[in-house]
Amino acid sequence: MVVNWDEIREQFPAAKRYVYLNAAACSPISKVVLEETRKCYRELLTHGDTIWEEWLKKKEDVREKIATFLNANKEEVAFTVNTSLGMNLIAYMLKGKGDVVTMQDEFPSSTFPWMNLNYRLRFVKPTNYVYSLQDIKRKTTEQTRILVTSHVMFCTGFKQDLVEVGTWCKQSGLIFVVNATQSMGAFPIDVKEADIDFLVFSCHKWLMAGYGVGVIYLSRKWFGSLKYPVVGWQSVKNPDLMDNRRLDLKDDASVLEVGGLQFPNIFALGATLDLLNRIGMKNIKSRIYELNDYLVEDLDRLNVTILSPLDEKYRSGITVIKVKDPEEVALKLRNKGVIVSARREGLRVSLHIYNNEKDIDVFTSELEKII
Ligand SMILES: Cc1ncc(COP(=O)(O)O)c(C=O)c1O
Repeated sequence: MVVNWDEIREQFPAAKRYVYLNAAACSPISKVVLEETRKCYRELLTHGDTIWEEWLKKKEDVREKIATFLNANKEEVAFTVNTSLGMNLIAYMLKGKGDVVTMQDEFPSSTFPWMNLNYRLRFVKPTNYVYSLQDIKRKTTEQTRILVTSHVMFCTGFKQDLVEVGTWCKQSGLIFVVNATQSMGAFPIDVKEADIDFLVFSCHKWLMAGYGVGVIYLSRKWFGSLKYPVVGWQSVKNPDLMDNRRLDLKDDASVLEVGGLQFPNIFALGATLDLLNRIGMKNIKSRIYELNDYLVEDLDRLNVTILSPLDEKYRSGITVIKVKDPEEVALKLRNKGVIVSARREGLRVSLHIYNNEKDIDVFTSELEKII
């Protein structure tokens, strides 16, 4: 299928108003996502709660869609609010299992939940922003039982080879925990192929579904052996009984969906998944690489240093450019309608399907004037 990227761009009005190169912070939503969210509120406006059963069914349809997207079983995925909450739930469920090895420059939400529960943490140092399996192995001790990593690092764009690391975790008896917030929607993940035990992500970045919905995946091999840190009336096999004396917990991931859920946001996720599936994840991935290649070529004449690993194995939708005073440069660009983020030593540019080559030309010429 040949994708008409101009047509896709039409779905995202914000991409016309701005040179929006900031998917790694939060993507604008598409018209289909807005429509789905609106529909849900319109139903609540005109029908109140009479529509509850329909929404429950629709929620299950979205669960099916996201499970298929991850090559998971429907029972293995649950909706949460965001990554931070999801990672806390995982850290609580794994309490007492052993020490954690994780990456030095993880996003705080990958690290704080484990610190808060007094896990012993060891941090892997990258080599030229790359965390090789060798680097990870060197940090692992006899006491290590859990490996926590982002699929894509928020501040460098390094992409972890999940299949390589997951296969090694399985061979070594380590529990593999992945934060996919900076990749989900841009790069496919097969939880089975990568032997992932637990996965979390938020949906406002590369999934373009707006704030308020996250997903947690629990491999079914953990069902029945975990102590759930939170439960509520929706955690039991038959919630409609509303029997407060029978704690008959579900045997699947949805046990963590403790009460009434954020239906509009979950349906937004469903709409965005339909859009992504229509385009095809293969096409999306290659478009993102195509745009990033164009950016790297454009930057060539500016003589700047790119901090992100450019090798395809480690490459993502994020390109970090070293600049003096990134905050100041990002602010100046913003004043020109060019939206990027300052992250540590560099300027983080993140390109998604709503971008085009012209956006990149505007960015590089404005950057040239500033630096
Ligand atoms: C890797 C990563 N995880 C999580 C988040 C966000 O966490 P939350 O959705 O809990 O706000 C970000 C960025 O904001 C991120 O880069």
